[in-house]
Amino acid sequence: MVLLRNLLNDIDRVPDNQIYGRVTAVQGMLVEIGGVQNNLSVGDRCQIVARANRLVTCEVVGFREGRALLMPFSPLDGVGLGCRVEVANAEPVLYPDPSWLGRVINAMGEPIDGKGPLPGGEKPYPIHNRPPPAHSRQRVAGKIDLGIRAINTFLTCCRGQRMGIFAGSGVGKSSVLSMMAKHTKAQVSVIGLVGERGREAREFIEDDLGEDGLKRSVVVVATSDESPLMRRQAAYVTMAVAEYYRDAGNDVLCLMDSVTRFAMAQREISLSAGEPPASKGYTPSVFAELPKLLERAGPGGPGQGNITGLFTVLVEGDDTNEPISDAVRAILDGHIVLDRAIAERGRYPAINILRSVSRTMPGCNSDEENAIVSKARRYLAVYEDMAELIRLGAYRRGTDAAVDEAIKYYPAIEAFLSQGKKEAADLAGGYQQLAEILAQ
Ligand SMILES: Nc1ncnc2c1ncn2[C@@H]1O[C@H](COP(=O)(O)OP(=O)(O)O)[C@@H](O)[C@H]1O
Ligand SMILES: [Mg+2]
Repeated sequence: MVLLRNLLNDIDRVPDNQIYGRVTAVQGMLVEIGGVQNNLSVGDRCQIVARANRLVTCEVVGFREGRALLMPFSPLDGVGLGCRVEVANAEPVLYPDPSWLGRVINAMGEPIDGKGPLPGGEKPYPIHNRPPPAHSRQRVAGKIDLGIRAINTFLTCCRGQRMGIFAGSGVGKSSVLSMMAKHTKAQVSVIGLVGERGREAREFIEDDLGEDGLKRSVVVVATSDESPLMRRQAAYVTMAVAEYYRDAGNDVLCLMDSVTRFAMAQREISLSAGEPPASKGYTPSVFAELPKLLERAGPGGPGQGNITGLFTVLVEGDDTNEPISDAVRAILDGHIVLDRAIAERGRYPAINILRSVSRTMPGCNSDEENAIVSKARRYLAVYEDMAELIRLGAYRRGTDAAVDEAIKYYPAIEAFLSQGKKEAADLAGGYQQLAEILAQ
């Protein structure tokens, strides 16, 4: 039944006329085609009819000497000179449906979880959608419970806020995302796993997210072995699905792991198309695409819900000043920094509270809550300043009253900040707990 309805919809959407060209050259992942360049623009879709009538879907990534340059979504096996290239004359769209909750899809919007066909919805959602116009967007308002104590209290996130999670590899970015997906109070989570290892994607879905988490989520996956176009598109599709649930009036949590892999995919695509690199091999188009992607999260227009976005950023060599981190930090409304030293100490999630900030937090908290948090932050800062001396045993109690007090509260605050992967936490409880710790 679902298949039949999908088929009837597909027939309705078949274009009336068909233009086509021919492959004139293939170089690496780049296919040059002739005959149709005047009908194409960057971002358009084409299909190459390869040997044995296998269809290879491609996207236009540029033009050179009067020829269009395409990149394929799948391997180019069987593509040769003179192969027919059909131009798809509609922009790429998805037809999301409420029944997508609990499903895992690829960057083409096809199900990959073995749970049967995916029902198509009524309304098309362009993969390259634009954010709502800035003037019509609602303000970021009301707190959202992300299920992680340290973030709920010290880095409170508002509905429609966008935050980055920055860390080197293996410090716990993916784990933080999975805890959020599982414990959040948001109605829907849309999770994009972009360019990570296949094994990790599977573990994330089966172990970390689990049945309960998956029920409220849609997961979009493109693993590291897929083509750069697929990896980049997985990020766009994640946003398009989130936009669909936002338009239906939901508080949507959009989690993307990772934005760095999206940037790397864009770098691969643009370098192949001949764009000159600018900063650390990243091309200017990477820095143009990042804000376009990240701006799609945020508050919706009138009558819509909102998309709270959390995006992980891989910080190579723990250098937080590398170009992608810098660019992402400038676009978002705050950053959560995970620290390798804290992880090595065994405190998870390894959030460095003092280096992290939520820009909307002071405005969305009550004065009382802000006071509790700044008091705890002060203790952490004082302790951090003296940490070396304290550990060496070079600090003598009674030298400084502020330090003594910080030493007294430090273990309890650290314990408050740690949270096992399976342990849930809620917003109100967090403030209460912290207030009790500080009242002792
Ligand atoms: N809350 C936690 N409790 C215990 N261990 C954790 C927690 N979060 C992360 N870890 C540990 O950190 C390791 C790396 O985490 P992961 O999320 O895969 O890092 P990343 O995505 O940054 O590469 C995990 O294998 C796990 O052992
Ligand atoms: Mg990871």
